[in-house]
Amino acid sequence: MSDHEIRKPAAEEIRSYARAVDRGFGGHSPPEEMEDFEGFLRKIDLLGAFDGSTVVGTMGAVDFQTNVPDGRLPTAGITVVTVQSTHHRRGILTQMMRQMLEGCRERGHTIASLIASETPIYGRFGYGLAMQRDRYKIDRSDAVLIGEGDSSGSVRLISLDEAAGALPAIFDEAGADRPGWISREKSRWKHLFKDPEFERHGDSALHCALYEDASTNSRGGQPGGYMLYRRTGDGRKDIRVVEAVAASDEASAALWGFCFGIDLGEEITAGTRPVDDPLPWMLVDMRALDVLRQDWIWTRILDVPAVLASRGYSSAGELTLKISDEFLGVSSGTYTLEAEADSATCAESSGSPDLEMNVADLASIYFGGVRPSVLERAGRIEARSDAALKMADAMFATRKAPWNVVDF
Ligand SMILES: CC(C)(COP(=O)(O)OP(=O)(O)OC[C@H]1O[C@@H](n2cnc3c(N)ncnc32)[C@H](O)[C@@H]1OP(=O)(O)O)[C@@H](O)C(=O)NCCC(=O)NCCS
Repeated sequence: MSDHEIRKPAAEEIRSYARAVDRGFGGHSPPEEMEDFEGFLRKIDLLGAFDGSTVVGTMGAVDFQTNVPDGRLPTAGITVVTVQSTHHRRGILTQMMRQMLEGCRERGHTIASLIASETPIYGRFGYGLAMQRDRYKIDRSDAVLIGEGDSSGSVRLISLDEAAGALPAIFDEAGADRPGWISREKSRWKHLFKDPEFERHGDSALHCALYEDASTNSRGGQPGGYMLYRRTGDGRKDIRVVEAVAASDEASAALWGFCFGIDLGEEITAGTRPVDDPLPWMLVDMRALDVLRQDWIWTRILDVPAVLASRGYSSAGELTLKISDEFLGVSSGTYTLEAEADSATCAESSGSPDLEMNVADLASIYFGGVRPSVLERAGRIEARSDAALKMADAMFATRKAPWNVVDF
């Protein structure tokens, strides 16, 4: 075993840092993409583990905003997490995570979020599963929408150049009332529309269908939704929906209707759908659609009172929460949350707790992805009384389930 040092990489170490990240994920990026990737790394906050001059561990943080009911949280998006196989299981990830989270907290991030390559990795660091996603497999020949053809708007195929102008506004509108929605910065949009060959994995280039409202309605012919998709599979007969985002249910139905009508299409797959998607209920035959539910965004709360006071609550009430934070310690304590119709406060208190939970489970109930009473039944949280659980269920409920389509 050799010693290692955790520190920021110097500018001249970025090339070997980029190679270490690529190697950690399987080493498949072509040289031309590595240049872009290095440019990306130079713009974000990085930590590295170094064995002498060799990069043996990597971790970065990108900045974005995450929607919560009636608010937004400045978020550190933890990314490019790797430890080289020569050095794994020696605690390098653990050390980098501690240092990274402490730095994020000092810089004012109240939460950190990530997408896990494997589910058992991050719970130990206080990350809770903040949202799940549904993956669909749809048999196109059986997929028929109830009320098909009811839409007053229309769908047209547009170029990626046109999409670059139209999609960001739809994206922002569609996510405005969605807890967990992550902002997509300009550079991320640019990368999406660049549609690099190596990220197609043998599929076709990206196609974009745009839904526009009828000019007679209140939105006056505005774009109201989009579907990005690829042709895939044997003979490119299948359809892989990369992202379907709509600002109204009418737009969503019209886009799926368009997709179900694509000639020669056989199987349709969609990778990141919200768990409260009305699509299965819009089908004449629900068995046309198979659903696989998976973990998606994991969130680590870094400042409990700030985070709890930042969201709106579905019901007024007062709750005292005892939170444990074994990994960082910064969130351990007892806090009283007081919510009214349009504001909430939260401060440390000496009251006796209504609920006791780990900081990870607080992240799971915070975005409305699971009710506190379900976590109590799962043996994850403790409640003083049924009344306290009932109040927690009512307060933390959200009108929509948390969802996000941004991969980071
Ligand atoms: C996942 C990865 C970063 C772990 O790094 P590491 O330095 O070996 O992790 P640590 O030594 O700090 O492990 C801390 C704990 O997590 C456990 N752990 C680490 N990786 C795990 C995994 N993939 N599955 C289950 N447990 C894991 C360790 O066993 C250890 O448990 P312990 O504290 O009970 O002993 C590394 O294996 C890797 O680079 N994998 C490939 C790329 C990847 O998947 N990156 C994550 C992207 S989200």
